[in-house]
Amino acid sequence: MKTVIYNIGTLAGILPEGTLKLEGEAMGHVECLNDAYLVIEDGIITDFGIGQDGDSANEYIDAKGGFVMPCFCDSHTHIVYAGCRDGEFRDKIAGLSYEEIAARGGGILNSADLLHETSEDELYRQSMERVNEIMAMGTGAVEIKSGYGLTVEDELKMLRVIRRIKETAPITVKANFLGAHAVGRAYRGRQSEYVDLVCNEMLPKVAEEGLADYVDVFCDEGFFTVEETARILEKAAEYGIRPKIHANELEVSGGVQVGVKYDALSVDHLEKTTDAEIEALRGSGTMPTMLPGCSFFLGLPYGRAKDYINAGLPVALASDYNPGSSPSGNMRFVMALGCIRMRLTPEQSFNACTINSAYAMGVSDILGSITVGKKANLIITRPVPSLAFIPYSHQTPVIERVIIS
Ligand code: NIG
Ligand code: FE
Repeated sequence: MKTVIYNIGTLAGILPEGTLKLEGEAMGHVECLNDAYLVIEDGIITDFGIGQDGDSANEYIDAKGGFVMPCFCDSHTHIVYAGCRDGEFRDKIAGLSYEEIAARGGGILNSADLLHETSEDELYRQSMERVNEIMAMGTGAVEIKSGYGLTVEDELKMLRVIRRIKETAPITVKANFLGAHAVGRAYRGRQSEYVDLVCNEMLPKVAEEGLADYVDVFCDEGFFTVEETARILEKAAEYGIRPKIHANELEVSGGVQVGVKYDALSVDHLEKTTDAEIEALRGSGTMPTMLPGCSFFLGLPYGRAKDYINAGLPVALASDYNPGSSPSGNMRFVMALGCIRMRLTPEQSFNACTINSAYAMGVSDILGSITVGKKANLIITRPVPSLAFIPYSHQTPVIERVIIS
């Protein structure tokens, strides 16, 4: 099957083969071709250039002078969850903080109760609605975490739903085991025993069934300590499962340093960052990932993305789509917040949402840029004056078509 997209006003996000992430100054540039075409064969980009492709194809798509760009990659989400937390939304508006809601037994534990009562089929159905929602908004790859189970059975239930999404949805999916998202209700006051459960019962079963690409820990004030995180990562390493860590959302937690020590693929959140975290990331393969939708929703500080980039580091952005701290998976809004609130240039924010977020979920060899040999998961926009227009006029419905697989 051969498809030609022609009449492309601007083909944006071209990278040479082998570029797996962009850091420092390189984040400020997006390579583009004007008046271009692009050829897809069996779902893979096989050619692109200026003007028209001379060969015949099975299908022709007229881009009508719009932008064609790689789909967004969303490297941090919790989109498998049951129901929602609209009641807590009222508490939040009334002035309660995320920590206060959690301390009352709400928050993550509230979602765990709802998930426990929901069948696997129903959980899949609700989650697929969100998958379809984000695909329509231009997301072509998504990482999904467990962490609303918090018992052996319910964590496995979540991960099986993620596996089913992997098998049935056209989007590229990576599964992340986040048993250490909060201490399950039955273990309240026995946190260390809960960590034992994660290490000695959950992880072996998850590994045996091959249910997780990554392992995660909420390493933060009031959740899991650096020592507990290290115990879990140590155990995961025995099964060859690489970490991606929740760090420094609520406090400077040491999560970045422990993540780097265990070669985490990414450390995520980073709302609270000192220069020590920036130093710790230098020379590592760990992608600092910021979640501006969470800062927006919870009223937290935004990550210091500019400082990271000025220090020569890469930065990725992701949605954190979840029912408690970021009930939106709109990556275009994330890109806009990157510009508006974190003061990234449109080019830096674009790269943070595409190639670098692809890296942060381990798919930048197959997604995240316009590169021959990569998957043709693409966004076609209506004609827009510039790349900057996409985050600038962030509510204008510019996305005309999303091509996935
Ligand atoms: O990334 N911070 C921890 N976990 C999620 C929130 C989960 C929830 O509140 O349901 C996050 O923000
Ligand atoms: Fe998260």
